[in-house]
Formats: sequence, C-alpha cells, structure tokens
Amino acid sequence: MSLSSTKLLFFAGSARDASYNKRLARLGVEIAEANGLAATFADIGDYPMPLYDADLQALEGIPENAKKFEALMKVHTGIFIACPEYNASITPLLKNTLDWVSRVRVEGEEPLAVYKTRVFALGSASPGGMGGLRGVNTVRTVLELGLGALVLPDQFAVPKAADAFEDNGHLKNKDSQETFKKLIQKLARAAHVLHGSP
Ligand SMILES: Cc1cc2nc3c(=O)[nH]c(=O)nc-3n(C[C@H](O)[C@H](O)[C@H](O)COP(=O)(O)O)c2cc1C
Repeated sequence: MSLSSTKLLFFAGSARDASYNKRLARLGVEIAEANGLAATFADIGDYPMPLYDADLQALEGIPENAKKFEALMKVHTGIFIACPEYNASITPLLKNTLDWVSRVRVEGEEPLAVYKTRVFALGSASPGGMGGLRGVNTVRTVLELGLGALVLPDQFAVPKAADAFEDNGHLKNKDSQETFKKLIQKLARAAHVLHGSP
C-alpha cells in the first residue's frame, strides 16, 4: 500500500516551551519521516485564540487563528495529538482550540467536517507514573462523542516524562519508541484507507 499521499499532523495540547508533549509530537514527526511518511509539527501556541465565548463569537466572528488551524488540519488526513493531563482531564488550551475549530463553518461542508473526515490517534506524556492516560480519555470523549471523529483505540503514554527522553528527543526506552512507531504507521494506514489524499 503506497502511503506517499498520506500527510500526518502532530501537535500537543501544551504551548509550554519545554513541553514533554511537544517533544512527543516532534518525535512523532521524526519517526513518521524516517518511515517515508509526510508529517508536520504544529505548535498550538502559534495559534493563540481567546477563551471561547459565544457572545464574543457573535460580536467578532471566528478568530483568524481558528480558521488557520482548521485549514492546517484539513491538509492532513491523520492527526496525532499529544495530550497533557491536567487534573485527570484535557488542558484548557487544547479544549479551547478544539472548541473554536468546531465553530468554523465552510460553505458546502457539513459542520465538523474537519473532524469527521480525518483519523486521530492520541498519546500523552507526563512526569507522573500513569503518563497522562486519564487526560487522554477525556480528549477521546470530546473527539468521538462531541466532534464525530474516528479515534484509533490505541493510546501511547510516556510516564516519568522528565527522565524519559534522550537529548536527541528519542525515547530512552526503545521498546516504547517502537510501540509509538507502530501507532504512527497504523494511523497512516487508517488515514490512507479511509480518506486517501487530503
Ligand atoms: C493544573 C495542572 C494539573 C495537573 N494535573 C495532572 C494530572 O492530573 N496528572 C498528571 O500526570 N500530571 C498533571 N499535571 C502535571 C503535568 O503533567 C505537567 O505539568 C506536564 O509537564 C504538562 O505537560 P507539558 O510538559 O506537555 O506541558 C498537572 C499540571 C498542572 C499545571
């Protein structure tokens, strides 16, 4: 199966400079490219949006950055989100980004088309022992139940993240990195079968 037209997007639900989840997303891009897949890293900190408020939307419309991020998602058919866990849940930054993008409307497209016509995979990194997997469950609920997205059942967690990465961004645990590679390959295959080219 040729996956040459499949494009994967990797981003994290954190804008923090030293974010472990951004490291995980960047590693995903490196692994994807090393395996012949086109991949993009995005920092959602580069797409600042106000806290969602329906009155603000009525007054000012959708923020340009929400439209830009929706357009970025659209040129990829597989999307990996590295999800930090805040109090066993999704980060406000990620939820706010997903919410604003869900309000974007494009003529001729059904609402939420950008979510319904991509395949998602989720992972997480946390300094804690569970690797942030509880937060991933919340993100899954938002994507699947709220936004109608297809999310792969696999989840990839990096526990004890403060000590999990080598200086070059690779995971010290090679078995774990191999598991991540398999998830990325599965995401690419699923995106290709279901959606072909973006
Ligand atoms: C408000 C808040 C709540 C947090 N709650 C959790 C938690 O429930 N579980 C966990 O593993 N880590 C929790 N953490 C720690 C984060 O996992 C840690 O800050 C991590 O570095 C955030 O991801 P990032 O490195 O990608 O920014 C919390 C951090 C903050 C600021």
